[in-house]
Amino acid sequence: MVDFEVRPCRQPVPAARRKELLAAPGFGRTFTDHMVTLRWSTERGWHDGRVEPYGPLVLDPATSVFHYAQECFEGMKAYRQAGGSIALFRPEENAARFNRSAERMAMPPLPEETFVRALELLVSQDSEWVPDAVGTSLYLRPFMIATQPALGFTLPSDSYLFCVIASPATAAFGAGAVPRPLTVWLSEDYTRAVPGGTGAAKTGGNYAGAFKATQQAVANGCDQVVWLDAAEHTWVEEMGGMNLFFVQRSDDGSPRIVTPPLTGTLLPGVTRDSLLTLAPRLGIAAEERRISVGRWREQCAAGELTEVFACGTAAVITPVGQVKSASGDWQIGDGEPGPVTLRLREELLGIQHGHCPDPYSWVHKA
Ligand code: COI
Repeated sequence: MVDFEVRPCRQPVPAARRKELLAAPGFGRTFTDHMVTLRWSTERGWHDGRVEPYGPLVLDPATSVFHYAQECFEGMKAYRQAGGSIALFRPEENAARFNRSAERMAMPPLPEETFVRALELLVSQDSEWVPDAVGTSLYLRPFMIATQPALGFTLPSDSYLFCVIASPATAAFGAGAVPRPLTVWLSEDYTRAVPGGTGAAKTGGNYAGAFKATQQAVANGCDQVVWLDAAEHTWVEEMGGMNLFFVQRSDDGSPRIVTPPLTGTLLPGVTRDSLLTLAPRLGIAAEERRISVGRWREQCAAGELTEVFACGTAAVITPVGQVKSASGDWQIGDGEPGPVTLRLREELLGIQHGHCPDPYSWVHKA
């Protein structure tokens, strides 16, 4: 296992200021006192692991990530548990997905135990930064960038930097007990991912390519964009940075959650997988099945599709209330958060914060 040298920060944020920041952290704006860095080169493999003071990275302007975007990242959270301890949620899943993204981007794999160790070390070094109010957490952002200073394009970089930073956070769409329902824009002009492309990898380019469509969504009074498939522009894939679930009524009146299957063009979310696993235990059937925009609209009109929600590490579970598109708008149910959305949200947060039993051993004490 790679070793990490700990170099503590000499000028940490004063306790009173940290307390102020933790009272209303927002999302991704404030960072803790430390970060993890670890380097890779063709000659030495992984080396020079450190927990060091948070600060700027100095990179040559020719560094390959600036030009060719060879990079991948993860998003995960450390939660304050009932009783005060700190836990990560399914970090091995993030480690495995990180390596799948790295493989797609022709980057070296990081041993999963090293990935998890880096998170544990940062969380223990900055444990006072883990907030304790319900709905808050310490968001962890592991990432890897290509660091070779060279503009040659035929081969991937011969050196990389793995880094983890941490940021106290409220859920991405608001601190309230129940987030405000989102209004979403169906993107008919732009495409997020194509078969054989990088859509299933968590890599920055997928997000850079989404800004234009999100600007269009905002210009149309929406919060987020919903992506459709590249070939037919018919099948719902995912929302900007989040997976989508539809709540339908089964023939016997019981609820069923449906999410698009992993076709290689959407992100295999850890929250998505967790919901597919835990819903049946709550009496909610769960299914991976494609759903067209046409059916989405018809089923809402017929009262057969009663709720829609987005899920992801940052978003947790966030209800969707309205859909807008160039070809028409519609409302989902009464436009308010529905009972299935709220039940799943409560259960997931309960497991993550240690208030509910954890039958799948998802909680990893940090
Ligand atoms: C996450 O949910 O962790 C993500 O990576 C989404 C991000 C774009 C905020």
